[in-house]
Formats: sequence, C-alpha cells, structure tokens
Amino acid sequence: MELNEAISKRVSVRYFDERDVPGEAIRSMIEAAVRAPTASGLENWIFVVFTSEDSREKIYRLITRGMEEYYRAVNIPEEKMKKLQERMYKEGMYKAPVYIAVFIDKRVRFLEGSEFDDLEFIWSVESAAMAIQNLMLKAVELGLGTVYIGVTNFRGIEEEVRKLAGLDENYYLVGVIPVGYPRREQKPHGRRRILGEITRFI
Ligand SMILES: Cc1cc2nc3c(=O)[nH]c(=O)nc-3n(C[C@H](O)[C@H](O)[C@H](O)COP(=O)(O)O)c2cc1C
Repeated sequence: MELNEAISKRVSVRYFDERDVPGEAIRSMIEAAVRAPTASGLENWIFVVFTSEDSREKIYRLITRGMEEYYRAVNIPEEKMKKLQERMYKEGMYKAPVYIAVFIDKRVRFLEGSEFDDLEFIWSVESAAMAIQNLMLKAVELGLGTVYIGVTNFRGIEEEVRKLAGLDENYYLVGVIPVGYPRREQKPHGRRRILGEITRFI
C-alpha cells in the first residue's frame, strides 16, 4: 500500500468484529512503531499487548469508565451520555480483540539536571506519540482498525492500566490503542480547518 493511501484511509475505528488478530500482524505494527524518531535515540518506550480475555475485559471497562468521566467533565447533555452508554454496553463500542498500551520509562534521562525534567518528559511522550502514528498507519495497511484512547490517562484509571501491565510508577501511560478488524467500512473524517488557515510560509 502506498503511504498516501494509508494516511488518507486512516480513521478512528471504535467497533471491531470478533476475528482474532494474528500475532504476526501485531509484531509488524510494533516494528513499524519503533522506526519512529525517538528523542536522543533512547527508545524509552514499551508496548504492552493485552490479548487474554480477562485482561481485555478489564481494559475495556477502564476505557468505558474513562469515557463516562470525560463526558461528565465536559458537561455533555444526559441524552448524549445515554447514547454513549448504549453504544458501549449494548453495541460493544471499544471492545477489541487486542489492546496495546504504550508507556514511557520516566527514569531514562537524556539531559543532566532537574531543570530539564519537563522537557525530557515531553520529548518522551512526543516520541511515543510518533511511534503510535506509525503503528496506526501499519494497521491500515494490514486491514486493521485502531483508535487512540486518551481517557485512560484520567487519575485513578492510568494507575489501573499500569498495574494490569505489571509496571510501577516509573512508567507513564501515553495511550491505549484498541486494535481489530473494523466491524464496518468507515469513511475517513474530513477536517474542519483548511490548509490556508493553519499554514504559514515565511
Ligand atoms: C491524544 C489523543 C487522544 C484521544 N483520545 C480518545 C479517546 O479517549 N476516546 C476516543 O474515542 N477517541 C479518542 N481520540 C480519537 C479522536 O477523537 C479522533 O482522532 C478525532 O476525532 C479525529 O477523527 P479521526 O481519527 O477518525 O480522523 C484521541 C486522539 C488523540 C490524538
């Protein structure tokens, strides 16, 4: 598949069919992920793949809890909350055959001195986010769907994901990525802002 096709076909997929995802596909997604640029060449990311039924059910519950918290935090009207709950609990939104949680190891340092703490953290998160994008594009090539889940970073939820991954507080969760074959075909979303608005040539 041409890169441009993968980029323009990618869309956030939130409904998956029950087909298993071959381990080989997951491996090649992670291989693509780690080709991403990594600040200071440190590769301080870790990809935790949840495939067992029990762990997937737990991750799914943490995602749905996070989504409900998110809707509450942004004061979404009650009928929209009901719709979300219907989608999640009746239609199986976010239920996936695989979840990949991407963490960074906060102990890995590039710069000396505490004045760089924030910068090192941001660089690590940026590197992991670039890896996630590679992983998502590779998924498109393999006919798989993904969505970036950020609500699992809410307080109380991130700790649970970390525990399930068997990691301590030295690790920070960058995102959880459900992976699976899309239940239906989806058209990519348009973008609201045109290029002229957001681009400046100087
Ligand atoms: C950092 C980040 C966090 C996100 N968190 C969530 C999330 O928690 N739940 C969700 O359903 N989608 C989440 N998304 C997906 C966005 O909603 C989605 O990318 C956006 O609506 C554009 O749609 P598209 O990806 O289909 O083009 C997240 C995306 C990013 C980049």
